[in-house]
Amino acid sequence: MQNLLSGASHETLPDSFIFPAEQRPPASAAAVALPVIDLSGPRDEVRRAVLEAGKELGFFQVVNHGVPEQVVRDMEACCEEFFRLPAEDKAAFYSEDTSKPNRLFTSTTYGTGGERYWRDCLRLACGFPVAADARDAWPDKPDGLREAAERFVASTRRLNLELLRLLCEGVGLRADYFEGDLSAGDVVVNVNHYPPCPDPARTLGLPPHCDRNLITLLLQGSVAGLQVSYRGDWIRVQPVPGAFVVNFGHQLEIATNGLLKSIEHRAVASAAVPRTSVATFIMPTDDCLVAPAAELAGGGDKPPPRYRAVTFRDFMKVYKTVGARRESVEKAFKI
Ligand code: OGA
Ligand code: NI
Repeated sequence: MQNLLSGASHETLPDSFIFPAEQRPPASAAAVALPVIDLSGPRDEVRRAVLEAGKELGFFQVVNHGVPEQVVRDMEACCEEFFRLPAEDKAAFYSEDTSKPNRLFTSTTYGTGGERYWRDCLRLACGFPVAADARDAWPDKPDGLREAAERFVASTRRLNLELLRLLCEGVGLRADYFEGDLSAGDVVVNVNHYPPCPDPARTLGLPPHCDRNLITLLLQGSVAGLQVSYRGDWIRVQPVPGAFVVNFGHQLEIATNGLLKSIEHRAVASAAVPRTSVATFIMPTDDCLVAPAAELAGGGDKPPPRYRAVTFRDFMKVYKTVGARRESVEKAFKI
């Protein structure tokens, strides 16, 4: 296995991680804060807040979201513990084969052949409800990780679907519009681990990218590191205790005909402390044909369709070759 970043001590940043100056994290002072939406408020207010933040920024945070605190704490604890395990306990899970649903990998370049990113990642996938064989394919160490991940997936999937219902009501789709194949693909959980970095100003933890799925929930813990693109600058997302960050993937942008956009974001490393974030991605099924909803595109006073219809499988083939930057994905799918 390639040496993981976690568990090793790093006195200097290896050259392979050093980015050209224009791609480094500028300490942008953008003072825009992501809206924090209290989901326990009156439904019409919540619906309005979610829609407004979704249209303006494509990113927001939610609190009082119904994912039990214990579920969050157990997941965080198990994930942090996983990265503290001795290398020999993790080696069996390590793979650079991107077609594997469950795997551990590190410092990937995302096929660019360029600089490496300062991140270890544990990827877990399952259908829903989580089947026994999917769960048994997850790491058996540390104790409790499988149970914690299963409960976490159930709660975050539920929250994702609730957010989708609110968004549907906001944009004028029937509330269950996303409840079939559009959200019935694998649930993928990426546990991103960014160990302390000797020179965070010269590298990145994750490249600027848009998520390829329908909708994403990110538990970013208490260490800042996520940055969101906004009007040519980067907003630093201040962690809010107990909150989930919500953002939209390309499939939601296509389905809403561009009303809700998939926004570029990236992660920076920290010099002092490790950071672990947990992203839950809701995906369409591979065969699902994703197209602008008829309610939002074409005919009468509606805008013309802005994206061509594409199966999620074909979308992924293109996404993997053009890369995750917003511009290249747009070029491939915009009409
Ligand atoms: C992701 C992601 C950001 C972070 O996993 O897709 O954008 O802060 N993560 O780890
Ligand atoms: Ni992302």
